[in-house]
Amino acid sequence: MRLTPPLKNELDPIEIASRDEISALQLKRMKKSLAHAYQNVPLFRGRFDAAGVHPDDLTSLDEIAKFPFCKKQDLRDNYPFGMFAVPKRDIVRLHASSGTTGRATVVGYTQGDVDNWSHLVARSIRAGGGRREHIVHVTYGYGLFTGGLGAHYGAEILGCTVVPISGGQTERQVQIINDFGADIIMVTPSYMMAIADEFERQGLDPRKSPLKAGIFGAEPWSEAMRSEIETRFDIDALDIYGLSEVMGPGVASECIETKDGPVVWEDHFYPEIIDPETGEVLPDGEKGELVFTSLTKEAFPVIRYRTGDLSRLLPGTARSMRRMEKITGRTDDMLIIRGVNLFPSQVEELVVQTAGLSAHYQLEVRREGALDSLTVRVEREPAGGADSDTAGKLRHRIKGVLGVTAIIDICEPGSIERSLGKAKRVIDHRKA
Ligand code: DLL
Repeated sequence: MRLTPPLKNELDPIEIASRDEISALQLKRMKKSLAHAYQNVPLFRGRFDAAGVHPDDLTSLDEIAKFPFCKKQDLRDNYPFGMFAVPKRDIVRLHASSGTTGRATVVGYTQGDVDNWSHLVARSIRAGGGRREHIVHVTYGYGLFTGGLGAHYGAEILGCTVVPISGGQTERQVQIINDFGADIIMVTPSYMMAIADEFERQGLDPRKSPLKAGIFGAEPWSEAMRSEIETRFDIDALDIYGLSEVMGPGVASECIETKDGPVVWEDHFYPEIIDPETGEVLPDGEKGELVFTSLTKEAFPVIRYRTGDLSRLLPGTARSMRRMEKITGRTDDMLIIRGVNLFPSQVEELVVQTAGLSAHYQLEVRREGALDSLTVRVEREPAGGADSDTAGKLRHRIKGVLGVTAIIDICEPGSIERSLGKAKRVIDHRKA
């Protein structure tokens, strides 16, 4: 049995309020958030002054476009606590990114921030059909990454029974899901595929697991991957989006009744789409870089934070709040191969649709002489199925759909490294 959508009376009234009510609340909160950032964060004060703008000038939501952007580098430059807007004694939690490139980025939360965050993750799980009677198996990593604790607090305040298993020990994940009777799993889509393989390795049919829904995010995943997960487990697969700089998971999340892109929780975040080259604001429906202004954050307000994520803003369907299109990639994930731009998720779509191939893949880019080459390494399905034509079929489809000639390397099951969290999809030897 699948989960059912929440009833109207189970929602927060603002989720189905009129657009006018939502905009009025956003404007009130935006003014407050701008003033808070200006008064308490030297970086924002300096930037606003330099741009000749003041929080008191804002009279309508679109005037936010006059304010300057901020980005990840600003967090690095102000490492660790330079962008906090409250005294250290009011911070109850810190999270940080791993900082594989450059310094880590550190974010802080007041008790009020943790409460709002938990509330929004609870709303996200509820949008996925979750209710207090459900058991939620949290496989996102616990620790400085926001995934584990973010999901945990949200599930708990919704009243669910939380299994805080974190990532790893895949064999045990399978046993605990079955023995405890998990209804909902929260995990990265790539690790979900590793869990599916482990079910099969143990001779178990994932379709017979107690799982009814999964709430997946923290990395790009294609519609083809969604159908793959839904078919393999017989569950609904929902998309949850977020980033630590803006809060963590639960900035936006998908509704089970529509599954048409994450709904941006607009009462707490004001989204914009900009042209990544010029910074110009684009109208709803056009594709560009997603930018967020936090409307209620206390410890770490962000004004026009450039996420680097590429998406579009779409009108509300299951809720009055706007949706974002499933992320196709990041500005810094885009590969340029012999002049053709492509994102790993576009290759994923074609890999997953090719019979006989698994969803475990990696892209390797090299420069040979003056020319770039792309190798798609992908594991064949353990049950077999990949034959001598498979590589040719995939090469043909990649050429036809994406316009790139790729080398296809079909390898044995288990030969591509499994990640417990975000998968590493690209190895770019040109950067070495
Ligand atoms: O990944 C927060 C999160 C945890 C979201 C669990 C969802 C579930 P960061 O580590 O700061 O935070 O990474 C944020 O991950 O800018 C996107 O590029 C990517 N990302 C997050 N969710 C999605 C998604 C967490 N649903 C970065 N689809 C973001 C595509 C996603 N990309």
